[in-house]
Amino acid sequence: MKQVATIDEIRNEITELKAQGKTVAFVPTMGALHKGHLSLIRLAREKADEVVVSIYVNPEQFGPNEDFDEYPRQMEDDLKACENEGVALVFTPNNEIIYGSGEKYFSIQIDHLNEYMDGGSRTGFFEGIVLVVNKLFNIIKPDVAIFGQKDIQQFQILSTMVEEFNHDIELVAGPIARANDGLALSSRNAYISEQDRKIAPSLFRALQYVEKQIRDGVMEPKLLLQHQQDELEAKGFKNDYLNVFSMKTMEPVDKLESGKSYILAGAVYLGKTRLIDNIILDL
Ligand code: PAJ
Repeated sequence: MKQVATIDEIRNEITELKAQGKTVAFVPTMGALHKGHLSLIRLAREKADEVVVSIYVNPEQFGPNEDFDEYPRQMEDDLKACENEGVALVFTPNNEIIYGSGEKYFSIQIDHLNEYMDGGSRTGFFEGIVLVVNKLFNIIKPDVAIFGQKDIQQFQILSTMVEEFNHDIELVAGPIARANDGLALSSRNAYISEQDRKIAPSLFRALQYVEKQIRDGVMEPKLLLQHQQDELEAKGFKNDYLNVFSMKTMEPVDKLESGKSYILAGAVYLGKTRLIDNIILDL
């Protein structure tokens, strides 16, 4: 495995792989790798001959009051994990390499798909993601790129970006990796106190409960969702959202219809830690 930090180096390495006739799958990450990331790397290995992982904590996707400075950084452990998973190349650029130091004349604006869910709560979040992933795609030019269903809105927005900007890249979504008690794995779980960790799976439990009711025929789940939010609040969570969204538009939907795809998704704060989770509903 090779670790490279500059654009010239990663491009040379990838040109070499392609000259050997190899296909490349790309897994972008912000590091602090856990089993969720590793499951995406394994999926990447099934999709192409060689896997490239990027580790870069992208400042553009953190708001002014968010956790950029505290975001967990553990490069040595991450490199070992990549090596164990058979990754060919790890790209570890710094801010200067990704963004340069000069004045910026362009930005990417997202007109739709980011009004609700995490886009609604985190201003500029998806613009920051689209900007960095667009750059990474132009640098790496992979055949396939793998993202997690954990961040379903990110996947939908990036799929649309690929389509509208004509990136010749296939996007693949990997399933949500969970702890034994159901909590979706996240680099931010490292912030959760031991006591809070015990109640953390309640978000997934609430989603599962609502999923069952919907599958049993509740097509207007508003009251049900409100009740689950009240219960989460009573347990000590602070609610951001818990709702059903259209898979196509990412907008909240009050009345569900069979034959359509939805995302049942929630975001809560546990102390200062923001947890998100979702279940896909193909009705
Ligand atoms: P990061 O949060 O490090 O996540 C990297 C990838 O791992 C994302 O595609 C995410 O959806 C996936 N992932 C996270 N938790 C997962 C889990 N429990 N199971 C399966 N996959 C999981 O997402 C980002 O970084 C950034 O926004 C990035 C795309 C790298 C752009 O900066």
